[in-house]
Amino acid sequence: MWSNRWLFVLAAAGSAVGLGNIWKFPYIAGENGGGAFVLLYLLCVAFVGIPIMMAEVLIGREGRHSPINTMRTLTQQHHRNRLWVTIGWMGVVAGFLILSYYVVIAGWALHYIWQMAEGTFVGATGELAEATFDAFLADPWQLVLWQTLFMVATVWIISHGVIKGLERAIRWFMPLLFVLLMVLLGYAVNSDGFDAGWDFMFRFDWSALDQGSVLIAMGQAFFTLSLGMGAIMAYGAYLPSDTSLTGTVVVIALLDTLVAIAAGLAIFPIVFSNGLDAGEGPGLMFVTIPLAFGQMPFGVLFGTLFFVLVSFAAITSAISISEPALAYLVEQYNAKRSRVAVSLGVIAWILGIGSVLSFNHWSDVHIVGTLTFFDFVDYVSQNIMLPLGGVLIALFAAFALPKTVVGNQLGLRHPAVAVVWKLLCGVVAPVSVIFVFAVTVGLDELVLGLLGAGG
Ligand code: TRP
Repeated sequence: MWSNRWLFVLAAAGSAVGLGNIWKFPYIAGENGGGAFVLLYLLCVAFVGIPIMMAEVLIGREGRHSPINTMRTLTQQHHRNRLWVTIGWMGVVAGFLILSYYVVIAGWALHYIWQMAEGTFVGATGELAEATFDAFLADPWQLVLWQTLFMVATVWIISHGVIKGLERAIRWFMPLLFVLLMVLLGYAVNSDGFDAGWDFMFRFDWSALDQGSVLIAMGQAFFTLSLGMGAIMAYGAYLPSDTSLTGTVVVIALLDTLVAIAAGLAIFPIVFSNGLDAGEGPGLMFVTIPLAFGQMPFGVLFGTLFFVLVSFAAITSAISISEPALAYLVEQYNAKRSRVAVSLGVIAWILGIGSVLSFNHWSDVHIVGTLTFFDFVDYVSQNIMLPLGGVLIALFAAFALPKTVVGNQLGLRHPAVAVVWKLLCGVVAPVSVIFVFAVTVGLDELVLGLLGAGG
């Protein structure tokens, strides 16, 4: 078990804060027009993410096993349908998909440590920053090299089970990452693009939003909080019974959101002061942030440190993505942790090659619509599997677990919390997810059209 509540907060925050906040949030906010998208994302975090996170921690702490076995234990104990265990299996599959490309992008961050240290971006222009990144992406061998290094590091850590050591590191590195984000933010505030960047993030221009953006905003809320696949459930299994679940979850969600907003507020002003494109895609952070450090005093030092910290944030997230599968295999087959870790790593690594190639040789290969292999794996895992898994987790916690169990977990001192939570988990979250799915496939227009035709 975690030595105390703060250690759980650190590990869960380590899981939540990662590439999702610093790399993904700004780039998809940029692609989806900013403000209105950001607002939707925040609403999803508050009304869907937080209650589902509580559900995951609650189930994990009640079951105290790996997610699959936790679901098995709980369904047996309370005589529920065994189909609920599918939640655990789906999470394992989603975990592989996410891990496969997460490691590729984390490899980019690793590579940028050297780029920054070499001073590549000192006094650089926007064109140079873009050209440097494009040249890197064009070389699959480079991408595979860094993907491999990051995967080896992840496998090494999870096979040693050094969560304890990590906790100590998270305690130092996370605040430091936050400080460096503040340095970047300070730079952004003083740049001439700040007003434009601020407007972009916080002007709720609904016309900038298209039908597809709604699902992406919701998927991002799940992704950034590490929800829907059992990662937080697996960590919840280690949370001491006497710590407040609600308070802990709210702290983690707030921290995570703060980091994402800070990253966006640092990145968009740089975009606008340098005449870059906010919708530039996955390269956004790798073009803007080096540019800012390149213009700053001590930029080489700060910039190098920044990418060290981002890589670190990514590794604490990658660990949590692998935990449900790893914990299950070790527990079920009494297998050696290191052997399981290596096997998991190899499978995810192979799958990741598809993402590597999506940025060069296969950039014109589309799986569906305009989605490359990387886009597709990302889309299916983040926007479909995580919300689906999350809703099933929510429904299980709200309706399949006995009231007394939930009451005990949430703490009887706050009966009102339990009522609000049940409403959010049992009704608001599932209805929102179904509604968003419907909007995405255009079902809402169909229904409205039929109603209109009928009336
Ligand atoms: N939340 C992490 C990030 O923002 C990524 C992550 C870690 C994750 N564990 C997860 C995403 C589980 C989905 C599910 O970078």
